[in-house]
Amino acid sequence: MTSVKSKPSDGKPEEDVVDPWTVKAVDDKGVDYDKLIEKFGSKRIDKALLKRFEKVTGHKPHHMLSRGIFFSQRDLDFILDCYESKKPFFLYTGRGPSSEAMHMGHLIPFIFTKWLQDVFDVPLVVQMTDDEKFLWRLADADEALRLTYENAKDIIALGFDINKTFIFSDMEYIGSQPAFYKNIIKIQKCVTYNQVKAIFGFNDSDNIGKISFPAIQAAPSFSNSFPQIFGEDDVGKTPCLIPCAIDQDPYFRMTRDVAPRLNYPKPALIHSVFFPALQGAKSKMSASDPTSSIFLTDTPDEIKEKINKYAYSGGQDTEEKHRKKGGDCEIDIAYQYLTFFMEDDARLEQIKKDYTSGKMLTGELKKELIIILQKLVSDHQKQRKAVTEKMVKDYLTPRALHFKSK
Ligand code: TRP
Repeated sequence: MTSVKSKPSDGKPEEDVVDPWTVKAVDDKGVDYDKLIEKFGSKRIDKALLKRFEKVTGHKPHHMLSRGIFFSQRDLDFILDCYESKKPFFLYTGRGPSSEAMHMGHLIPFIFTKWLQDVFDVPLVVQMTDDEKFLWRLADADEALRLTYENAKDIIALGFDINKTFIFSDMEYIGSQPAFYKNIIKIQKCVTYNQVKAIFGFNDSDNIGKISFPAIQAAPSFSNSFPQIFGEDDVGKTPCLIPCAIDQDPYFRMTRDVAPRLNYPKPALIHSVFFPALQGAKSKMSASDPTSSIFLTDTPDEIKEKINKYAYSGGQDTEEKHRKKGGDCEIDIAYQYLTFFMEDDARLEQIKKDYTSGKMLTGELKKELIIILQKLVSDHQKQRKAVTEKMVKDYLTPRALHFKSK
């Protein structure tokens, strides 16, 4: 685990805490991502890599890439090598279905993954870790499975190509695909209790399901977990790229450690920053606190009210002071959200200038965001409504996929 002891004197943590269960920053500006990169041992996505991305794929980087929302990587260069030399690879991401209503933060990796899939034209596997959510949070295993299906609708609503996308429930797929389970036990055999304790901070009173779960999140990184996609004779050598928020990195550090011992390639990664809570960048959004997030089920009025009432402002207390001193975009949550969802670079730049100089007021800035999010959420609701039970079943059925590089 990457958490660091609290200072006993004032109880405040002296360093950011980032692991799959906790994100807490010391500073109002949020997590210190440079420090995190150093601690985790990943690499920053720099200008040179973005340039190469554009050159190799012929696509201008997505705004989440060019604005540093996806900011860190492992072996992304290698994936670009594969693309350049027309060697097959695949994408893998996932979701822990813990609540009915997903929020904006949950969408980030999926929006970006959809874009990557369109650019690369490769298969995508999406793991729904209903087992994980049962082990950690939910009392009822059937409820966890039901949430897999509910959340799958939100994912499908983003428009993933059915010919290239396989979504699976851990509970169902482990029971139906021996190749997947074989990889899980192979990984389990390579990792000791001491190692998972060191990586994830488990202790002697954690249930044994939690202790063995990391192998289940690791296994989809290896292509022979999916013989229906890569063929019965696939030996797990097709490389994998995993887009995820950086709190998931511990799972994949473990996976990358194990891979060479099983004769598999190490999965490549592309990491995002966290989507901040409305109350400020010190924490990420929480599905259990309705005021911390904009949910995909919110009405236009709820969106407006939440942003106006709760979005932490970097503006000044009075208009007079604001006009004189200007606002601070670095801590302003409405501005931060715009960087995630406003596609127009020039408009965003103008807003930053005007807000910083005091020409634009907090209310005006929030209004820009409200309009964008109201549209995004209501479009999403329409698309989700159009997802039928039959479509969900189709996406979740193990089957061959179609892609150019095959
Ligand atoms: N553990 C993740 C969660 O709780 C779900 C997940 C499984 C995942 N596999 C993944 C996320 C791969 C990103 C990439 O949400």
